[in-house]
Amino acid sequence: MSLSLNKEQMNIEQMNIEQMLHKKSLFICVGAGGVGKTSTAAALALQFALKGKKALVLTIDPAKRLANALGLSAFGNKETQISLDDILQMDSRDSDGELWAMMLDGKQTFDDLIEKLSKDEKSKQAILNNRVYKSITETIVGNQEYMATEKLYDVVCSDRYDVVVLDTPPVKNALDFLDSPGRMARFVDKKIMRWFLAPTENKEKKLLGRLLEGTSSALFYLLGFIFGKEFLEDIAVFFNHFRDLYEGFHLRHSTVEKMFGADSTAFFIVTAPNEASVDVAEFFVSELEKREMDVSGVIVNQRHFVKKDVSKEVLDAELLKLCEQEGMEPSHAKKLYSRLTVAYERLLALSEQEEMLEKRLSQNVHSGKIWSVPRLSGEVHDTVALKVLGEKLLNASAQ
Ligand SMILES: Nc1ncnc2c1ncn2[C@@H]1O[C@H](COP(=O)(O)OP(=O)(O)OP(=O)(O)O)[C@@H](O)[C@H]1O
Ligand SMILES: [Mg+2]
Repeated sequence: MSLSLNKEQMNIEQMNIEQMLHKKSLFICVGAGGVGKTSTAAALALQFALKGKKALVLTIDPAKRLANALGLSAFGNKETQISLDDILQMDSRDSDGELWAMMLDGKQTFDDLIEKLSKDEKSKQAILNNRVYKSITETIVGNQEYMATEKLYDVVCSDRYDVVVLDTPPVKNALDFLDSPGRMARFVDKKIMRWFLAPTENKEKKLLGRLLEGTSSALFYLLGFIFGKEFLEDIAVFFNHFRDLYEGFHLRHSTVEKMFGADSTAFFIVTAPNEASVDVAEFFVSELEKREMDVSGVIVNQRHFVKKDVSKEVLDAELLKLCEQEGMEPSHAKKLYSRLTVAYERLLALSEQEEMLEKRLSQNVHSGKIWSVPRLSGEVHDTVALKVLGEKLLNASAQ
C-alpha cells in the first residue's frame, strides 16, 4: 500500500467522496460516542469491496447484531472474510473485490506484539509470564486507542489490503486517539524505564547488574523488604528482556505517526447532528489541522431531512386526502391529521436546527468538506443496511 502520494495529487478541494475512495488507501473514522463511526467504517469498506478492492475494516466493539452479521462473534484479532454474494445478487452484478473485517482484541494484540519484537522464544516467554508485564498490560491493553494504532501498523505494513478502514473507540478526550502512537514511546521514555532500558552509563549498568544478580546490598535489601524479593526479581527479569523491545516500539511509533500524516490517509470525522458531538467534531478538526493531518471531511450522520417547500395548504390537502383514501371517519381523520401536522412541524424544527449546526460546522471547518447522511428507518445491523448507508454516503451532498 503506497503511503507516499504527494499533495498535488491529493487536491481535496476538488474531490468528492467517490473520487476520494480511489485516491486514498487508509481511512480513519473518528468522533464522539454513538455517532456512527463503526457503521460508517463498515459501510465504507463494503463500498470499496463492491468497487473491486480488497478492503479491511478494523473495528472496535461493534453492536452485537452487526458483529454477528459480519461474522465477528468471536474475539481474537482474526481477519474474517465476509461474503458479498447476497448483496451482489441483489443488484445482479459482480465484483472481484473482497470485504474483510477484524475486531480488535487488546490482550491478543499486545501479546502478538511481544512475540514479534522478542529476539527469541526464551525472552518472549520470560516477558509473557512475568508478573510486571501482566500488570502493565492490564493498564495498556484496556486502552483501545493504543491497541487500534498497534494493529493498524501490522495490517498496513503487511500490504495485504488495497484499502484499510479503521474504526476508532469513542473519544472522551478527542486527543487520546491521535496521541496513542506516542503513548507507548512515552511510557518507555519515563525516567525509570529509561534508566533501565536506554544505553546505560557504567555506573547504572553496575546498579542494574546488581539488581539482576539479587545483590544483598543495603539498598536492595531495603527494596526487597518493601516490595518483596520476588517482585524485585520480576522487575529485574522484565526490564532485562524488555530492553530488547525498546527500538521496536520506537520504530512502530514513528511509522504510525507518519501514516497518520501521509497524503494517502484520510480522516473522516463522524458526528451526529447534535451540539455535543458537533463540538467534539470541531475540536477534532482543529487538532488535526494543527498537526497538519488531512481532514478529508466531516460526515454529519443520522440527519433528518424534511421536504420543506411544501405550502401549508398543499400539506393540509395531502393529509386530508390520505385520510379519505384510508376510509376514515371524519372525526378520526381530523385527529390523525392534527397529530401528523404536529409531527411534521417537530421534524421540520429538528431538521432546521440540524441545518444551523451544519452551517456552523462549515464556518469552522476550513479544510475538507461536510457531508450529510440521512438517518435510516432501521438500525444498521446487517450488510444490506450497510450497503444502503454506504450508497447514501457516496451520494451525500457536500457543503
Ligand atoms: N445513518 C444511520 N441511520 C440509522 N441508524 C444509524 C445510522 N448510523 C448509525 N446508526 C445506528 O446508531 C447506533 C450507533 O452506531 P455505531 O455503533 O456505528 O456508532 P459508534 O460511533 O461506532 O458508537 P461507539 O462510539 O459506541 O463505538 C447503531 O445502533 C447504528 O445501527
Ligand atoms: Mg463503534
